[in-house]
Amino acid sequence: MLNTVAQYLRCPHCRGETSLRERSLVCPAGHSFDVAKQGYVNLLPHASAHSADSQEMVAARAAFLDAGHYAPLSAALAALARRTAPEPLPGCVVDVGGGTGHHQARVMEEFPGADGVLLDVSKFAARRAARAHPRIGAVVADAWRELPLRDGAAGVVLNTFAPRNGPELRRILDPRGVLLVVTPEPGHLQELTGALGLMRVDERKEERLADRLSPYFSVAVSERLTSPMTLDHAALALLVGMGPNARHLAGEELARRVAALPPTCEVTLSVTLTAYRPLA
Ligand SMILES: C[S@@+](CC[C@H](N)C(=O)[O-])C[C@H]1O[C@@H](n2cnc3c(N)ncnc32)[C@H](O)[C@@H]1O
Ligand SMILES: [Zn+2]
Repeated sequence: MLNTVAQYLRCPHCRGETSLRERSLVCPAGHSFDVAKQGYVNLLPHASAHSADSQEMVAARAAFLDAGHYAPLSAALAALARRTAPEPLPGCVVDVGGGTGHHQARVMEEFPGADGVLLDVSKFAARRAARAHPRIGAVVADAWRELPLRDGAAGVVLNTFAPRNGPELRRILDPRGVLLVVTPEPGHLQELTGALGLMRVDERKEERLADRLSPYFSVAVSERLTSPMTLDHAALALLVGMGPNARHLAGEELARRVAALPPTCEVTLSVTLTAYRPLA
């Protein structure tokens, strides 16, 4: 797949165009990046990114998403993409901080001829994403730096629970394109904050997000999705293990707290999906 998506990428060192030569992505200035045997390419200019999801977190996320617990979210994102994307699509579908590629794979079904590029700073995520969908190419990249994508390469950019770098998101989006952002609401997973002692969603996150994107984008559509999930102990452990709480709640302590809950729990999925148009 990297063969096809090389046309959307650019060299992280010199911004040159890239093409695939055997098992490497190369630019005219001679910079070269090996394609890993798992099918992704690492375009990080330097080793970095302490925020990358670990192998365990990515495995938990993959198992939780594959069980279908966030299927209403993938479906809502795909429907919003279908409704707001220009036709024909002026570029590819990019997911920034796309994790395992689960949501993007669902979105790709709405755009049968389109190519997809998933960026994530975690090589464990990129490994999974390379297998998520036949039309997705997976790239290791840091969302807080210059993205290794050409100006206007994307017709749709997705961002679900991931870092948002306003100027770079604007730069990679075609002027006719759309940016779709998913953010948690204060009620998201609220049943677990008390029961398991998880961190709460920052209620002012929404406000700060708007501030960061507003110089570059205007809001076209904003919709709330609230959906109940019925989770057993195994699913609860995966849900904690895939998120920010995994860094300080794991192993025996997590198992002990989960074991103290009823066999199944109702947990609320509550997010806002926002479609942004780029400002001129
Ligand atoms: C909460 S997960 C969401 C993954 C995916 N969007 C989803 O909804 O399933 C956040 C993702 O952002 C990635 N990430 C964190 N910091 C990043 C950065 N600076 N650049 C790119 N990706 C980053 C993590 O590795 C992780 O895969
Ligand atoms: Zn180069």
